[in-house]
Amino acid sequence: MNVLVTGGAGYIGSHTLVEMLNAGMDAVVVDNLCNSSAESLLRVEQLTGRTVQFYQGDILNKPLMQKIFADHKFDAVIHFAGLKAVGESVAKPLKYYQNNVCGTLILCEVMQEAGVHNLVFSSSATVYGDPASLPITEDFPTSATNPYGQSKLMVENILADFQRANPQWNIARLRYFNPVGAHESGIIGEDPNDIPNNLMPYISQVAIGKREKLSIFGNDYPTPDGTGVRDYIHVVDLAIGHVKALEKLQTSPGLVTYNLGTGQGYSVLDMVSAFEKACGKKIPYQIAPRRAGDIAACYADPTYALQELGWKATHTLQDMVNSSWHWQSKNPNGYHA
Ligand code: NAD
Ligand code: UFG
Repeated sequence: MNVLVTGGAGYIGSHTLVEMLNAGMDAVVVDNLCNSSAESLLRVEQLTGRTVQFYQGDILNKPLMQKIFADHKFDAVIHFAGLKAVGESVAKPLKYYQNNVCGTLILCEVMQEAGVHNLVFSSSATVYGDPASLPITEDFPTSATNPYGQSKLMVENILADFQRANPQWNIARLRYFNPVGAHESGIIGEDPNDIPNNLMPYISQVAIGKREKLSIFGNDYPTPDGTGVRDYIHVVDLAIGHVKALEKLQTSPGLVTYNLGTGQGYSVLDMVSAFEKACGKKIPYQIAPRRAGDIAACYADPTYALQELGWKATHTLQDMVNSSWHWQSKNPNGYHA
């Protein structure tokens, strides 16, 4: 199978490339490197012994996208390219709608012109808003609390309308819960550009000495220890979920939607203590006010993905934090020497 991977140089994209290439698939990447480094692709090649053709460019550049589709015969596309910082999306909504929504429209137009009708889209558990109950199944109502989430929800809805009008298309909308961890080799991992917004990269940077202490955003939630609960999923499990989704698209399922999570929630304090075990140091923290827009708890019911894809997350919480620490300690500055 020959697959175009948009945003393939990023965190989830690079891990997915490894699993795809190891499964015998071929991959071409388009990425503008706005939140990543081409070094990740060199490392994917190093890990797999395979080559990845790379186009450095923007998915909003339609002539470039047309050239890529003219240069290759693709069986499917995985669409990771997107901006994902919730806070930035509140400050710069147009940037997020332009990139995430318009970028997807251009991709779909070019795919349609080229006769490529199989698409895997990176969606997010953020489309469930503040769920009425837990665990979350795919038929829960959707809503968004910020422009990033809104952009994901808009794209989900656009893809549903588009597939309805074009039944020959097969589209998998994958709703990721909280991806963390790194490849067990420590050769690829998450490399945030700026101060990390997310919990796991922040804890890693405290452990490596780049940040003084973690701020825990609220300890008065209605959760067992008062801190926020999330469904953390090892990025390699998530990557394997994409390989399964690509295989599923070969059976012409039409529009499908899957939660990719473990079904298990962990609190911020659970994450801190698991990370302390992994790195053998104390992680200093302070309790800070709740972060605007955060919810108390969120975790998946992953049953449908198991039934339909034969996919299940297998890595434990300790695997997740051990692999994060392995990557962080081997690459204190990420992909930058
Ligand atoms: P990432 O930032 O590491 O990867 C995204 C990649 O897309 C980057 O390499 C970036 O340079 C590229 N990109 C962005 N806009 C582009 C454009 N217009 N043209 C070309 N390339 C572009 O993020 P990630 O964590 O790997 O996330 C991948 C996808 O999964 C995103 O769509 C994100 O919204 C979604 N997602 C991520 C999470 C998470 O917590 N990491 C959770 C749910 C959904
Ligand atoms: N947290 C802290 N301190 C920090 C960072 C986070 O206490 O410095 C807490 C949060 O309050 C929350 C938990 O850690 O309780 C997880 O926060 P993250 O920012 O890591 O993840 P979120 O669940 O807020 O959101 C992430 C992505 C979203 C995505 C969502 C669901 O950022 O884009 O997972 O997939 F939509």
